[in-house]
Amino acid sequence: MVSWLGPGKGIRVLGGKVAVVTGAANGIGRALASALWAKGCHLAAVDLDCDGLGNLQRELTDKGRGQLLTTHCADVADRERMQRLAPEVVEAHGAVHLLINNAGIGYEAAFPQTSLKDWDHIVGVNLWGVIHGCHFFMPYLAKAERAHIVNLSSLFGIVGMPGQTAYSATKFAVRGFSEALFEELRATSIGLTVVHPGAVATNIIDATKGDDPELLQRVSRWYERNAMRPEKAAALIIHSVEKGTPRLLVAAESYFGDFLRRLMPTAGNKLFVDAAIRLLSVEDLRAKRSKQWRETMVEGGPGNSHQRGI
Ligand SMILES: NC(=O)c1ccc[n+]([C@@H]2O[C@H](COP(=O)([O-])OP(=O)(O)OC[C@H]3O[C@@H](n4cnc5c(N)ncnc54)[C@H](O)[C@@H]3O)[C@@H](O)[C@H]2O)c1
Repeated sequence: MVSWLGPGKGIRVLGGKVAVVTGAANGIGRALASALWAKGCHLAAVDLDCDGLGNLQRELTDKGRGQLLTTHCADVADRERMQRLAPEVVEAHGAVHLLINNAGIGYEAAFPQTSLKDWDHIVGVNLWGVIHGCHFFMPYLAKAERAHIVNLSSLFGIVGMPGQTAYSATKFAVRGFSEALFEELRATSIGLTVVHPGAVATNIIDATKGDDPELLQRVSRWYERNAMRPEKAAALIIHSVEKGTPRLLVAAESYFGDFLRRLMPTAGNKLFVDAAIRLLSVEDLRAKRSKQWRETMVEGGPGNSHQRGI
């Protein structure tokens, strides 16, 4: 179908297609891998967590319909490894139709406490990981009659949250990268979806590196009560691949944040942040952090990673 936006994209029939999913051992990636497998996709599951990949393989092989499942231990931030990964997958599967750049890590600390080493790490995984995936798999995706890329951004790729300067920087960058790439891909047979999830009930909060364990605990408690199941997020993402949707919001928080930012581009951010702080019951921790921010940055107290030069 051709609309004024351009030719219709998406992979309507996923059965028999080859899907690469990064971060496939846990969380949304694992749910995506299971759902794609149930649809009859051949699967290349990629993760740092090699044991987790082994578990996934054991779980899925029993339920398969004769498809091929390969697992690949790889760090998406490692350029040489990602360069080797693409031909490794194609040698095993013969082609690639769907690439889901899902692997990502959380990070929670105020800017003065964010070391450059931590910046390198989070940018390496959350941004370079997505660029590596697109860069090294693109020649193979371009060969397919129809192909699709999914890049995982976040609600924090729409709204800037305090304590999330590093994470938000990577997720806004994934959004900008994806929106520009989408335009470049218009005349091709490759579609692209950028996904902005709100809270999805995975291990991401427990695995998040941060400087305030109490804050992470409260966020984790809120997640336990309110976050969307990863299986539901995966179903929405797969539907967007079938339809060729360029942009997908997942969970009510993402719709709310997006709505506020469109309505009031500047004040909308503040309104969202204030509402989130109240909802998560972290007003006291926020006040403590503002005080710390001043002490460490302005008065030069301990914990200022900038003064330590790292
Ligand atoms: N869960 C949420 O609430 C939420 C919200 C917004 C965005 N997201 C995004 O969704 C994606 C998936 O998150 P999740 O919630 O499933 O997290 P998760 O922690 O449950 O799973 C992430 C997976 O990625 C893997 N991984 C981490 N670093 C890697 C690396 N360098 N190389 C290869 N694999 C690596 C982990 O081993 C893990 O299997 C991430 O990009 C995340 O930023 C999640």
